[in-house]
Amino acid sequence: MVIGVPTEIMEGERRVAATPDSVRRLVGDGHQVLVQSGAGIGSFHVDEAYREAGATVMEDEVLLFQKADVIIKVKEPLFNETLGRHEADLMRPDQILITFIHPASPANHDLVRKLAANGITAITLDAVPRITRAQRMDALTSMSTCAGYKGMLLAADSLTTFMPMIVTAVGMIQPVNVLVVGTGVGGLQALATAKRLGAVCHAADIRPDAVEQAASLGAKTVDLGIPVDEAVGEGGYARKLSKERLREERERLAEVLPKMDIVFLSALIPGKKAPILLTEDMVKMMKPGSVIVDISIDQGGNCAITPPGHTEKKHDVTIIGIKNIPGLIPQSSTWLFSQNVYNLLKIVLPTADSVDVSDEIVQAALTTYKGEIVHKGTLEAMSADS
Ligand code: NAI
Repeated sequence: MVIGVPTEIMEGERRVAATPDSVRRLVGDGHQVLVQSGAGIGSFHVDEAYREAGATVMEDEVLLFQKADVIIKVKEPLFNETLGRHEADLMRPDQILITFIHPASPANHDLVRKLAANGITAITLDAVPRITRAQRMDALTSMSTCAGYKGMLLAADSLTTFMPMIVTAVGMIQPVNVLVVGTGVGGLQALATAKRLGAVCHAADIRPDAVEQAASLGAKTVDLGIPVDEAVGEGGYARKLSKERLREERERLAEVLPKMDIVFLSALIPGKKAPILLTEDMVKMMKPGSVIVDISIDQGGNCAITPPGHTEKKHDVTIIGIKNIPGLIPQSSTWLFSQNVYNLLKIVLPTADSVDVSDEIVQAALTTYKGEIVHKGTLEAMSADS
């Protein structure tokens, strides 16, 4: 198979889907790899290193998209301003796309429709199931680890205060209070980072296991009052709450919000639109100068007024809605991502001439196939929106 690795075009995105190391392994497996010139620059991988690994380096991305059987990317296809064309329109029917699409997010529904209309076999990395066999392919876990760590550093950087307790000759500066809502992979990493920076940590989640893990990291836990049978579903994953339960959860969170300096939002039900846990009125309750980091923004966000893709100050609160936080630690995130994609390609392309749609990992991640939208969470989110 011919595997194409284009340069990422999202603003500030420094990751790339393959490193010279993963290219070498793909070539060793019998694939041909096309890399767009400069694709690895953001993570310090130069064209020459890709050539040495056996890739063909190409200047022309339109040709690269045309020639490849499989396109591997980090972020969803976007409109390419330089070319005046959408990346999804550079692709052809039956071509395979492997990337993060976040198809359930309403912001991406038009893109998903376009991918289906263009006949593309799109596989979204955010839907790779968290089962043992898929651990090595789980780019979401890798990227959530990066987003939890770097997202908390961004919050610390946006504060106008020290984070830890500081003892000075004129008195003591108190440590800040951090609340992490949704203590899955990203949330736990954010908590661990806040702890290392000396904050007083608080955590909330609807799954008892997640609450327990947060407590073991030293966080004080906020009781959201959700009965376990409503909170935990199949495979131990969180369940979508009813409107009434979400309202109750927001009330519980509102009680603690006024004393928080940083609120880190990472609550997600896999494959679904993110639940709204902070309304605009709740943001207004927060301290002037406080910071919200909403890493669930790819799924629509946990805060109703998070600016998608950037940072804004609203009601004296800095709200960070950056979508590609892992791109801010491009060397580590690219290394993790390229390993995950390489491992996924091994099961997606077992025969080297077609996608194995019978595999349960591929089935879960398949978003569009033969002109249809096939991803369950997306279809559900689309019908809820219409
Ligand atoms: P995860 O599935 O490991 O954790 C999500 C947690 O949210 C779970 O523990 C779940 O129990 C909890 N949760 C679900 N509903 C809740 C509710 N109503 N209230 C409180 N907790 C609730 O997910 P992971 O991997 O940590 O990802 C979190 C988010 O981070 C996702 O939206 C993911 O797409 C995003 N992400 C964002 C990046 C960025 O650059 N902005 C990069 C990587 C991930």
